[in-house]
Amino acid sequence: DAVCTKCHDESEAKPLLSIYQTKHGVRADARTPSCQSCHGRSEQHVSGGKGVGEASRPTPDIVFKTKSALNPTLDAATQVEVCIGCHKGGQRMHWEGSQHSSRDVVCASCHSVHVKADPVLNKSSQQEVCFSCHKTERAQTHRLSTHPLAAGKMGCSDCHNPHGTTGPKLLSKGSVNETCQSCHAEQRGPFLWEHEPVTEACTNCHTPHGSNNAPLLKARAPWLCQSCHSGDHAAQVNSGANLQGGALTMANGNQLLAGAAARAQMGGRACLNCHMVVHGSNHPAGSKFQR
Ligand code: HEC
Ligand code: HEC
Ligand code: HEC
Ligand code: HEC
Ligand code: HEC
Ligand code: HEC
Ligand code: HEC
Ligand code: HEC
Ligand code: HEC
Ligand code: HEC
Repeated sequence: DAVCTKCHDESEAKPLLSIYQTKHGVRADARTPSCQSCHGRSEQHVSGGKGVGEASRPTPDIVFKTKSALNPTLDAATQVEVCIGCHKGGQRMHWEGSQHSSRDVVCASCHSVHVKADPVLNKSSQQEVCFSCHKTERAQTHRLSTHPLAAGKMGCSDCHNPHGTTGPKLLSKGSVNETCQSCHAEQRGPFLWEHEPVTEACTNCHTPHGSNNAPLLKARAPWLCQSCHSGDHAAQVNSGANLQGGALTMANGNQLLAGAAARAQMGGRACLNCHMVVHGSNHPAGSKFQR
């Protein structure tokens, strides 16, 4: 490293040498990279100018930057190849062809290797790195009902593997449900009575990043339920007049107590007051998710 640190020393505006306080600076480890294993031999850069501050100095062989309007011509593949060379497999098994890779996002778009603590590896600072490109999700995580992301108790990487996956949307487990159920075991089932939209995808009713309808619901009941259930019974529950006036008539002719239905409405929980276990039921008589 002496070749490079002759010029690039503590006087740099950005503290480059704190790399020696990271895992890339563990001198006792033979796998540890030198300046040149990342930036290339850069012979012309080293010899090409007269000293520090020389404007015409050729750039090093490999410069790590995110492709942007300011840097439109960076060769993403070359940058990534350097890092992948030492970091093949593991979490990065599916980097090739992943959503990030195919849009020229590079390792250094997320990782800062010269600082003592890479912000993307820490749950409380990670999301800011992601938000620099994902503005929609930033807004979502500030809604009333969210996963505890802002609190730093969770990171985006609890659900996503940003390096690439085999499933959709870079989800760390193969599917939406496997991802959610890895933490929410109660909703996993199998249930004696399954509710089809639950077994299909939690995201039929929930949003992962944030919602103004607790708990993380796409809409409030009864509207949530009525987006799929439009039968007479469902329609009547939602009509206040009908409930006050008399009995609620089920599609099969059964009558429900008006009082019960009205209370259901007043509670603001609508369908959920009667259909209490919407994720599925293990009760022999729970086919309508009432117990
Ligand atoms: C003779 C002095 C000198 C030596 C030796 C030297 N550099 Fe530089 N380097 C510079 C100057 C001057 C700049 C441009 C100003 C700056 O950013 O500090 C620069 C810039 C860079 C940049 C930023 C390039 C960019 O476009 O953003 C990198 C990366 C770099 N050097 C890496 C290295 C590496 C790796 C070595 C060792 C192989 C090395 N340098 C050796 C003087 C030197
Ligand atoms: C693990 C790979 C790696 C090693 C080892 C490494 N660098 Fe870097 N370097 C990077 C990356 C990635 C960037 C882009 C900015 C960042 O991530 O901090 C960078 C940025 C730079 C810059 C430009 C800083 C700026 O943004 O203005 C200079 C100069 C530089 N490195 C010099 C060095 C020198 C000198 C060494 C040896 C002491 C070295 N690098 C070792 C990966 C590396
Ligand atoms: C010459 C091999 C080599 C190169 C090139 C290299 N690394 Fe590493 N990297 C390592 C080693 C060795 C470790 C420590 C691994 C360990 O402790 O298990 C490491 C660790 C890391 C870590 C984990 C740090 C931590 O604190 O846990 C990250 C992130 C990382 N490298 C990213 C990068 C990126 C990004 C690049 C390209 C800019 C890169 N590496 C290039 C060898 C390399
Ligand atoms: C979109 C952002 C992003 C990009 C791009 C990215 N990483 Fe990461 N990387 C992360 C996050 C987030 C973590 C922490 C993962 C966790 O907590 O499970 C991580 C962790 C790591 C680690 C440490 C964990 C381990 O597997 O040992 C290494 C090494 C690493 N990345 C290397 C790379 C390399 C090499 C590339 C480029 C091919 C890359 N990363 C590209 C976000 C990114
Ligand atoms: C440099 C910009 C950049 C950064 C930083 C970044 N991403 Fe992305 N991400 C993209 C681009 C570009 C896409 C491609 C899809 C698109 O157009 O939005 C994408 C797509 C995604 C997707 C959606 C994949 C799909 O199938 O639609 C997820 C999930 C994602 N990123 C998560 C993350 C996470 C988590 C982080 C932080 C660890 C992160 N990203 C950091 C640029 C970035
Ligand atoms: C609780 C799990 C979870 C967490 C935490 C999480 N996501 Fe997601 N994310 C998902 C799921 C599930 C999807 C797919 C949504 C769908 O298909 O409707 C998704 C989709 C995305 C998409 C694609 C959006 C689209 O419209 O296709 C991006 C980008 C994204 N997430 C970024 C992030 C970022 C950035 C963070 C951290 C702030 C984050 N996610 C945290 C579960 C999560
Ligand atoms: C890494 C673990 C983890 C994963 C994966 C996860 N969650 Fe969560 N979830 C949590 C934590 C922690 C809370 C907050 C619990 C609390 O505050 O008591 C939470 C809260 C919730 C809540 C709100 C509960 C309430 O009472 O307000 C819902 C709904 C939820 N998650 C749905 C999902 C869905 C849907 C997915 C998949 C897209 C998912 N979760 C993936 C950990 C996770
Ligand atoms: C048919 C719509 C629907 C689907 C699909 C759905 N949920 Fe829910 N979920 C709800 C409703 C409605 C609530 C609020 C229950 C209440 O207030 O009593 C809820 C509440 C939750 C809660 C908060 C704790 C609780 O039980 O009150 C968690 C956690 C949760 N769901 C996780 C999941 C997971 C994981 C999946 C996928 C396996 C999933 N949900 C699928 C409608 C759904
Ligand atoms: C994404 C669509 C969707 C949403 C949202 C939805 N359901 Fe369902 N629900 C279904 C499907 C599909 C079935 C099974 C087919 C059927 O019997 O109609 C079902 C079955 C049911 C059944 C049993 C029906 C029977 O005949 O055995 C009840 C009760 C029910 N849902 C209540 C609710 C409630 C309450 C909500 C709101 C919390 C809700 N559903 C939200 C799609 C949905
Ligand atoms: C006052 C209690 C109550 C409320 C409120 C209620 N239900 Fe029901 N629901 C029932 C009962 C009891 C049955 C079972 C009737 C039977 O066994 O024939 C049922 C049956 C159903 C069925 C099965 C098919 C059908 O139409 O018979 C669906 C779907 C359903 N409810 C959806 C909803 C939706 C959606 C809402 C909210 C808009 C809702 N329910 C509100 C008590 C209620």
